[in-house]
Amino acid sequence: MKTKLFEPYSLKNIELKNRIVMAPMCMYSSHNEDGKIENWHRTHYVSRAVGGAGLIIQEATAVTPQGRISPQDLGIWSDDHIEGLSELVSMIKEQGAKTGIQLAHAGRKAVLEGDIIAPSSIPFNENMKTPVEMTSEDIKETISAFVKGAERARKAGFDVIEIHGAHGYLINEFLSPLSNKRTDEYGGTVENRYRFLREVIDGIKGVWNGPLLVRVSAKDYHEDGLDVEDYVAFSEWMKEQGIDLIDVSSGAVVPARIPVYPGYQVKLAETIKKDAAIPTGAVGLITSGLQAEEILQNERADLILLGRELLRDPYWPRSAAKELNEEIQPPKQYERGW
Ligand code: FNR
Repeated sequence: MKTKLFEPYSLKNIELKNRIVMAPMCMYSSHNEDGKIENWHRTHYVSRAVGGAGLIIQEATAVTPQGRISPQDLGIWSDDHIEGLSELVSMIKEQGAKTGIQLAHAGRKAVLEGDIIAPSSIPFNENMKTPVEMTSEDIKETISAFVKGAERARKAGFDVIEIHGAHGYLINEFLSPLSNKRTDEYGGTVENRYRFLREVIDGIKGVWNGPLLVRVSAKDYHEDGLDVEDYVAFSEWMKEQGIDLIDVSSGAVVPARIPVYPGYQVKLAETIKKDAAIPTGAVGLITSGLQAEEILQNERADLILLGRELLRDPYWPRSAAKELNEEIQPPKQYERGW
């Protein structure tokens, strides 16, 4: 029997050759501070495509300069970014992987000169800047920046867009009552806290008809914060809005201790998959082929995202195939030594 990890997966209108996804990981390597692709990005992403991942999700890419985590983040706030991104996309595709991009805004977690913005004027912790509370104009402009980012991603040729709604960045800050104390229609009730993400999704849907994913932090690890049941409800709404898959991470909206162990977030992906009846991706300390196969066979998630293990081993798909006794096709140049 063929393993599930190496079974193709249909994601809306595209097919991934396997269930292995490179998780978005910031490289902080846009050294000219212009958000553009450099040699590092080409080398780093293309080697994971050569290594056999089915889908490569490019790191958090800022939709506005103010939405960068650091000055070295990649960006998609200008048409000038399209050329470099498009070149990277074709290099990755040439090696047989599908390409995704994570559209992001750092909100109060931006470490930049000048003002930073967030739903409410509350810093992440005492060492971080106090953000300026977003006006309704800021909200409109930021939603429109996400939409323009999606349009540029389409022009650059990406197969998949992932909206970064996790890890305490802007969208997550709207969702959680710990960081959103607004009294207008973007704060207070669950529906209101969801409104910003709702409008980002609707806006992107207007310019993009490919697979659309959202990464969430399905647990705040705080007694007054959100937990997975809240994210089941959000996921039901996202499903109604046409989101194809929820990429389930956790934490980082407020400083909190996260208990970490192999597969520590898989249960969250499983709960959302079952209770909201939407496909999910599992991520977080998944390191072996057997562990990945267990998650898929027990229908706990539909895709396996790997972060650090793919940094350590760009050929992880090959290692996992060996572990699972699966034959996978090497790049033809490597056929004699695979
Ligand atoms: C990350 N992570 C991350 N997550 C995200 O949604 N957008 C991002 O840009 C980044 N950046 C990033 C950089 C680096 C260097 C690391 C190690 C991690 C989180 C990442 O996608 C993943 O969820 C976690 O690393 C957990 O998975 P692993 O590493 O245990 O497989």
